[in-house]
Amino acid sequence: MQNKSGQAPLIVILATGGTIAGSGDDVGYVAGQVGVKELVAAVPALADRPLEAEQVAQVDSKDMSHAIWQTLAARVAHHLARPEVAGIVITHGTDTLEETAYFLHRVLSPAKPVVFTAAMRPVTSLQSDGPQNLLDAVTLAAHPGASGVLAALHGRVHGPVDVRKALPFALDAFSSGEAGPVALIQEGQVRPLRPWPACQALGLDTIAFQASSWPRVDIVVSHAGVDGVVVDALVAAGARGLVIEGTGNGTVHVSLLAAVERAQAAGLPVLRGTRCAGAAVVGAPAGALPSAGELSPAKARVELLLQLLSSAA
Ligand code: SIN
Repeated sequence: MQNKSGQAPLIVILATGGTIAGSGDDVGYVAGQVGVKELVAAVPALADRPLEAEQVAQVDSKDMSHAIWQTLAARVAHHLARPEVAGIVITHGTDTLEETAYFLHRVLSPAKPVVFTAAMRPVTSLQSDGPQNLLDAVTLAAHPGASGVLAALHGRVHGPVDVRKALPFALDAFSSGEAGPVALIQEGQVRPLRPWPACQALGLDTIAFQASSWPRVDIVVSHAGVDGVVVDALVAAGARGLVIEGTGNGTVHVSLLAAVERAQAAGLPVLRGTRCAGAAVVGAPAGALPSAGELSPAKARVELLLQLLSSAA
């Protein structure tokens, strides 16, 4: 889809599915049904904007795969390299948006804005939030000075390290926890609050291996009564890294810890996060497992996966 007014900058919309492309009632809908051209057509304010749209995938994001991440990263990199493209919008399911956003942040850390958006209600709902979120995402992608991987949801702009789905059904489902949003979008105006996100990009070469051969990295939760059976089984199944979702400030049950230390002794890298939502693990007491810091366990898994890929590249 292309609509050149010669005024506004060119934005590319890459669609991957999710509730924003869902159809049905508020709970019993099916995600990933509506094509990207229909999504754009549902937003009259986008009619005169120079846009291109591409369907990269069409999935419920609970089923997101490493193979789709690999394809998406390649398409984002392709469009970012085009001088005429000012920014990219990615439509995605809300359930794993934060993992895909963190993945692209670490692999590409783009100088142009790459803006994720999503919806908590399908396009067929009376409460449909997708059209406004899509309009806000395009506004942000075209905003002069904006850069990096961002998420525009419900009037807030979140960074890739802090964004997380905090509520399962509310329209205002996303939070940046203690860090707070990077910017607000109000009445079509972007109001930056803190610096745009950036990091040292690992580059596309890091993820060039076939996705089916990427190292296995698993998340294990520490809880009352836990033991080391799951960790021992994962190591036996070929896990190459482990994230421990600890209690409180990243503490780990003594019975689980014994198995994790066996895994470490066998050469597996480990990161220790917290079950507490929206907050970082603080400090690193002597002898503690390496901390995931500000990363949620799901993002720490992505980080460990990328570190393993990068050391093999
Ligand atoms: C999904 O993550 O694809 C379904 C849920 C949603 O987008 O809200």
